[in-house]
Amino acid sequence: MTAKPYHVYITRKIPQPAIDLLEEHCTVTYNEIEDALTPEQLKAAVRDKDAILSMFYDKFTPEVLDCCNKAKIIANFAVGFENLDIPAATERGIYLSNTPGVLNIATAETAWALIFAVARNIPAMDAVCRTGKMDSWSPFGYLGQEITGKTLGVIGAGRIGSAMIRMAKGFAMPILYTAHSPKPELEQETGAIFTDLDTLLQKSDIISIHAPATPETKYLISKPQLEMMKPTAILINTARGQLINTQDLIWALENKVIAGAGIDVFENEPYVTPGLEKLSNLVMAPHIGSATYETRVNMGLTAARNIIAVLKGEMPPNCLNPEAKQK
Ligand code: GLV
Repeated sequence: MTAKPYHVYITRKIPQPAIDLLEEHCTVTYNEIEDALTPEQLKAAVRDKDAILSMFYDKFTPEVLDCCNKAKIIANFAVGFENLDIPAATERGIYLSNTPGVLNIATAETAWALIFAVARNIPAMDAVCRTGKMDSWSPFGYLGQEITGKTLGVIGAGRIGSAMIRMAKGFAMPILYTAHSPKPELEQETGAIFTDLDTLLQKSDIISIHAPATPETKYLISKPQLEMMKPTAILINTARGQLINTQDLIWALENKVIAGAGIDVFENEPYVTPGLEKLSNLVMAPHIGSATYETRVNMGLTAARNIIAVLKGEMPPNCLNPEAKQK
């Protein structure tokens, strides 16, 4: 085999199709420990690599970026990119990219899975069946809420929020949404109504968050917002943990200020904030919004295509910092 001029490092093993595609152009190595790299391991691993394929939890601080002495691109295997210091990478002439578009369906389906898990208390039902004997069947046993016809409030109608809204049509749900600006085509297609956050919180039965983590969205949902919601409301978060004040959520669920919540993301990942585990009206998942085989293959291929473009001297198709001057 002839030696390839470029060396790509992948910070966690990804599905094979992306590795195969990269290997057509580059030498590929990846983290084989099957765990997240520590900051020190990351710094050592990125040295002398021409491109890095990174996970959303790998923090590319200026210190880590200083160790990317040869890297032309850091391609995130994620749509979120708050782990990447954009100004610092731009200053160092490193392109950054993400994987938008390919995980909309998987993430929206995760939000729906959480909605039904909370509304019908699936985890408790599963637990009782695992004991080997059902409870005595009762007309009042495990009563939940129906979803069909209820009002859905979508906070952030970007790609994933819009996928969520389209799926809601099947459940005949009136839909409210917030976004930077109204989306006339989406409204025409789905009947969704653009509104302000307070109205959405007050009128919705199910509220699903699909906004990015930015300084402006930190603690978007805190005590005052939880108090605006209906006592029957269900809150879903598959976006980022920082959008909800977790202590306020624990308070709201303990005191039945809202009926329930389903969360796939946490404020201090990989840790689950103490207190959450005690709440029977909460369903949790370990940040698996995009975890379908099809989606993970497509995320890998998207990240690989961003890398290959840069190594060919082109702009990555999903560039986050087109102004980066290449080394
Ligand atoms: C996962 O959270 C992602 O941003 O893709």
